[in-house]
Amino acid sequence: MQRPIAILILFVLLPASVATAAQRRARNVDEGRVPSYTLPDPLVMSNGQRVADAAVWRQKRRPEILQLFETYVCGKSFPPTKQTSFHVTSVDKHALDGKATRKQVTIAFTSDPHGPSMDLLLYLPNAAKKPVPVFLGLNFFGNHSIHPDPGITLSTRWMRDDPTRGVVNHQATEQSRGACRSRWPVEHILDRGYGLATVYYGDLDPDFDDGFHNGIQPLFYRKGQTRPAPDEWGAIGAWAWGLSRAMDYLQTDADVDAKHVAVLGHSRLGKTALWAGAQDERFALVISNNSGCGGAALSRRCFGETVAAINDNFNHWFCDNFKQFNDRETALPVDQHMLVALIAPRPVYVVSASEDLHADPRGEFLAAKGADPVYRLLGTDGMAADSMPDVEQPIHSTIGYHLRRGKHDVTSYDWDRFMDFADRHFRRDSHR
Ligand code: GCU
Repeated sequence: MQRPIAILILFVLLPASVATAAQRRARNVDEGRVPSYTLPDPLVMSNGQRVADAAVWRQKRRPEILQLFETYVCGKSFPPTKQTSFHVTSVDKHALDGKATRKQVTIAFTSDPHGPSMDLLLYLPNAAKKPVPVFLGLNFFGNHSIHPDPGITLSTRWMRDDPTRGVVNHQATEQSRGACRSRWPVEHILDRGYGLATVYYGDLDPDFDDGFHNGIQPLFYRKGQTRPAPDEWGAIGAWAWGLSRAMDYLQTDADVDAKHVAVLGHSRLGKTALWAGAQDERFALVISNNSGCGGAALSRRCFGETVAAINDNFNHWFCDNFKQFNDRETALPVDQHMLVALIAPRPVYVVSASEDLHADPRGEFLAAKGADPVYRLLGTDGMAADSMPDVEQPIHSTIGYHLRRGKHDVTSYDWDRFMDFADRHFRRDSHR
């Protein structure tokens, strides 16, 4: 080929191919432009064999799907360190004007109590008969941000700057007490007979890409290893690991009904709650609030945030292997309905918000619905709705779903429904 012609061809082709990639990456929020796709069947093994009964699900297909998520999406997690220990740093039986007992516990991951650790805050309702069921979730701005209670220790850990929430120079200030209280209606939760446990997610891995030096990952590096392998955990795996360590503590606390711990999370922490619930079957109920891409939303719909977008913008959240699927969602051996299915037969509640198109509310509903055959195979009522319900028409079958009116957030409407859902399923479990 002559040179000028080759250059001309390149000139014509290059902008076109760049435009296509850019278009693929442009955020689609038009239902009419969702590509047609076929979801992998959660009840067909990788070798093509159909899962005929609960025993095959349990012994073969569930481990297979879990391994696929470990290898290609969230990365493998590690067992707890042998030296994990609990240090109760304060107990106040008269917190919140006598309504609550407040406990604070440092969970240390090495033999050094000043080494890597996380701080758990636990409120228990004084009026309720113990042990009580508990909601457990990570928080974004420190335990002290969930309530202005001056007895909560102010976190001294690194935090994302946010002067509106009192975080300056990456440190919390007194102004950050209660800064996120709208998302944590503590008194109301206590009044409904539940305890609440929370941990700052940055205790486990500060949420920025530093090449995995400042989180818990280095505790598990093999000799000479400097970052997680392509199939090992990123930040979401580390945050989910922390939820399991919180559960380790809750199992030792006689005031907590450890058989009824609901793990929950919002947004990136909703993705984390699903992954924690999928891996750790001690969580009796799982709630994903507006978790979106890599959480409850189907990747193959490419609606709102896509796999490429999340990996580009949050390089440190998933395992490196997940990046193989940037703009190649159909090549994924799983989709997010299978993450929901890993929680079966335990109750799972997927929650969306009508204006939160970035998180793809319909894709979240469809993933919840897509787990239905597994839930039914295991003898539950699965997802009772055939189609996506209208706003604020909650579905509370074993797979639950609601679409709150409004933006990406956690509101008192959501919390009321979380507790209705837990009332219904926990009561049924324990015949209270
Ligand atoms: C971003 C991100 C989402 C995530 C959200 C959050 O919007 O794209 O995937 O859920 O942050 O955690 O607030």
